[in-house]
Amino acid sequence: MDQILFVDACMRGEASRTRTLCQDFLTRYTRLHPESQIIRRDLTAADLPVLTGDLACRRDQWAADQRDHPLLTPAREVAGADLILVGAPYWDLSFPAALKIYLEWASTLGLTFAYTPQGEQVGLSRARHLVYITTGGGPIAGANLGFDYLRAWGAMMGISNAHCVMAENLDVLGSDVGAALDRARGDIARLVPLLVP
Ligand SMILES: Cc1cc2nc3c(=O)[nH]c(=O)nc-3n(C[C@H](O)[C@H](O)[C@H](O)COP(=O)(O)O)c2cc1C
Repeated sequence: MDQILFVDACMRGEASRTRTLCQDFLTRYTRLHPESQIIRRDLTAADLPVLTGDLACRRDQWAADQRDHPLLTPAREVAGADLILVGAPYWDLSFPAALKIYLEWASTLGLTFAYTPQGEQVGLSRARHLVYITTGGGPIAGANLGFDYLRAWGAMMGISNAHCVMAENLDVLGSDVGAALDRARGDIARLVPLLVP
């Protein structure tokens, strides 16, 4: 059974337009792959602690000792996912801080990446695709720093394909928000069949 990890950083919850697009993606994807199981990681409560130096040392020790710990869950879910969907609004040129905290916890040596004896870094996630969905109050293209970061992070985890769907200018006076979201829904409809598990 395929596992879809939905990392939900849509901080406005039910009011979030980004989340609406994520739901559209999940509906289409599961229609095509009904055997898929969705694991939703809700970041809106921001209940993961900031990774301090001390916590980073302890985290590395838990992973090295192959211990179970709730704070290793982000790394384990990234390692075990077949597809990762990240939903995040365009905040201050990238994405909400809760997502960065999640990604730091997920980037755990020995669980999501490792080094070969030659010192080469290899990713350990079994996911083949990372899909990033975002919406912006103004323009995003040309400064899509959140997606640039996620794509590089995914490559570090071993995820070779990254895709971005976005809707821009949603808070610009007079802009046709419905049309912008419909365009993004069209992009999702075209993307989903390309995502071979
Ligand atoms: C804290 C915060 C920071 C934001 N930063 C930006 C920004 O840097 N550039 C921009 O175009 N819009 C920015 N916006 C507007 C959001 O990107 C826009 O409203 C987006 O559609 C929100 O997504 P949502 O409906 O999923 O919450 C910001 C909004 C908030 C609340």
